[in-house]
Amino acid sequence: MGFSQWLSLTFIFHAFLSLPISSEPSLSPEGLPQIPVNFLELAKRPEVFDWMVGIRRKIHENPELGFQEFETSKLIRAELDQMGIPYKYPVAETGVVGYIGTGSPPFVAIRADMDALAMQESVEWEHKSKVPGKMHACGHDAHVTMLLGAAKILQDHRHVIQGTVVLVFQPGEEGHGGAKKMLDDGVLENVDAIFGIHVSASRPIGTVASRPGPLLAGSGFFEAVISGKGGHAAIPQHTIDPILAASNVIVSLQHLVSREADPLDSQVVTVAKFQGGGAFNVIPDSVTIGGTFRAFSKETFIHLKQRIEEVITKQASVQRCNATVTFNDNGQPFFPATVNNKDLHVHFQKVAGDILGTQNVLEMQPLMGSEDFAFFAEVIPGYFFFLGMKNETQGRFESEHSPYFRVNEDALPYGAALHASLATTYILEKQSKPNPPKGSSHDELNPS
Ligand SMILES: *[C@@H]1O[C@H](CO)[C@@H](O)[C@H](O)[C@H]1NC(C)=O
Ligand SMILES: *[C@@H]1O[C@H](CO)[C@@H](O)[C@H](O)[C@H]1NC(C)=O
Ligand SMILES: [Zn+2]
Ligand SMILES: [Zn+2]
Repeated sequence: MGFSQWLSLTFIFHAFLSLPISSEPSLSPEGLPQIPVNFLELAKRPEVFDWMVGIRRKIHENPELGFQEFETSKLIRAELDQMGIPYKYPVAETGVVGYIGTGSPPFVAIRADMDALAMQESVEWEHKSKVPGKMHACGHDAHVTMLLGAAKILQDHRHVIQGTVVLVFQPGEEGHGGAKKMLDDGVLENVDAIFGIHVSASRPIGTVASRPGPLLAGSGFFEAVISGKGGHAAIPQHTIDPILAASNVIVSLQHLVSREADPLDSQVVTVAKFQGGGAFNVIPDSVTIGGTFRAFSKETFIHLKQRIEEVITKQASVQRCNATVTFNDNGQPFFPATVNNKDLHVHFQKVAGDILGTQNVLEMQPLMGSEDFAFFAEVIPGYFFFLGMKNETQGRFESEHSPYFRVNEDALPYGAALHASLATTYILEKQSKPNPPKGSSHDELNPS
């Protein structure tokens, strides 16, 4: 960073000092690292913390499934109205996109997903889900709250944000591909970078974890109907048994990962659904099986999809059955792998290190789970990370999608401060850097 850039940064930084909200706790003008620290102190203030806890509990009590987040969306808009933050609505049906700052570049987006899961909450507490069979068991209620918390901090500093922070409240993450729909609605036009948080019940509170490059797998679903000829279970010679054929199909599918895949290229094929028959003495006409497949690279993913179809149809025919295979019913797109941008990883490590201490910024192995944040990170530089919630003195924290899943509300200020700091310092740094000259030295060394 050149001297003049440092001067302009220092100037912008001093402007932060003059705002009422940051006057106490006081900032010492020691440079950028103070901004995240200051933001965490703001987010931990009782008036901000209690407000966030209230929002989170309200959303938790009224969980809504993908693309049905009408009340959640209404609550988000009411809070944005209250703060005087302009927004676009509806985006992708129930989504909301807010804007803080100048309305001009650079644009940086921070994202929260809004939807709940179709499952019954088993945690007995005052703010248990009031909707039978629906539950926020993935922490998306906390994600929305953290983004609103960040919005509050950012809005109080809006006059010194020399760019625009885009608040992305996204519907339908849990298998609905809401991110894709938001993209199709142009949410990321002109946006330079996007950040996303997921809470993690298995990591300690006050820590974050992520990695550069592939973080989460690409994912798809398959379903197959294997049809034979039903009949009396005691007279198998007059039937074509789809139960046995389906069983062999499932065993053959196991060979894809164990025998055909490169052991160093992680992949999963799981059959999670098997439906057929209903009586002890009847061979059914057909069996339906279904499952998921995961991979990190596009080529591997496409190859796996093709082999799944071949193995099912050909193995079924060995036993005189017919099979039809469909992928991602109702035409949902496959989730790509979530790949973190390497420059944003450096930015994240610096900012998170300033807030949490560098020893609490952990590098993790990739996971075979998937996230539709991947759609965003596929088209612009994106960065997704996990925020720890585990606090052993508060009992066991069950994993995501468990009916006993609990959010540790003490994590809310960390999420709010991380969102706000990642966006603010991204804009400050972008503003302080002159545009790279056209045709970098790298290009000159590698003429195409
Ligand atoms: C499989 O499909 C062929 C061609 O449509 C049909 O002739 C045959 O009866 C089917 N077999 C079964 C077991 O459904
Ligand atoms: C963990 O929980 C205890 C008991 O509620 C609390 O005193 C402590 O501050 C918590 N730790 C963190 C890092 O939040
Ligand atoms: Zn989930
Ligand atoms: Zn989730």
